[in-house]
This record gives sequence, structure tokens and C-alpha cells, in this order.
Amino acid sequence: MTYVVTDNCIKCKYMDCVEVCPVDCFYEGENMLVIHPDECIDCGVCEPECPADAIKPDTDPGLERWLEINAEYASRWPNITQKKEPPDDREEWDGVAGKFENHFSPEPGEGN
Ligand code: SF4
Ligand code: F3S
Repeated sequence: MTYVVTDNCIKCKYMDCVEVCPVDCFYEGENMLVIHPDECIDCGVCEPECPADAIKPDTDPGLERWLEINAEYASRWPNITQKKEPPDDREEWDGVAGKFENHFSPEPGEGN
């Protein structure tokens, strides 16, 4: 198993998660992060750190699509290990429905 970043990260992108990961397996897109499934050691430390509750174990039901998204974009986007300034409007996006369909960006972030 692995942990995966899911829909509510999009446009919230708090980045608290990257600070606690012992193996630095987060990768940065323009408006969300993903976890590399082959690098994650399933420690679970990041899950409670996310203010948007966007990190889930892939054993939760219905997360197959998110496992695929995390795997695909972790191989395309740059690694991120340090928190940066999150979006100013992050709280307004928390809980908005249909973010992947309407707001997902496949563009890479800058990493660090
Ligand atoms: Fe990193 Fe652990 Fe979270 Fe996996 S579960 S992404 S290893 S902090
Ligand atoms: Fe996203 Fe939560 Fe990390 S909003 S960037 S998974 S702290």
C-alpha cells in the first residue's frame, strides 16, 4: 500500500505534508502535490498534518483513480521537500466539490 494525495489538495496546497515525510516522496504540480507510490514507506505521518484532510491510505475504498494520478504525476513533476508560501485563497477552496474535473493542472510546480 501507499498513501495518496486526493482531490481536496487542489488549490489548497498547504504543503505542511512535505515537512514531515522521512523519505521526501512528495512531488509538486502547479496547484497540488502527489506522493510517489514506490517511494512512500507507509509511515502515515503526513496524513494528520494536512489541514485539508487530503492525504489518505490507498486502502480506503474508491481511491484507485487517485493512486493512478499520484503514480503518473510523481514521475513527471519535481520533488518538493520544504514548505513554501501556500495560495492566499486556500481556505476558500477547502471542501469545494469537483476540483479534479474543473481545476486540476497537469503543469509542474517549481519544486525545491
Ligand atoms: Fe511520506 Fe510517510 Fe506520508 Fe508516505 S506516509 S508520503 S513516507 S510521510
Ligand atoms: Fe496538499 Fe495537504 Fe499537502 S493540502 S500540499 S496534501 S498538506
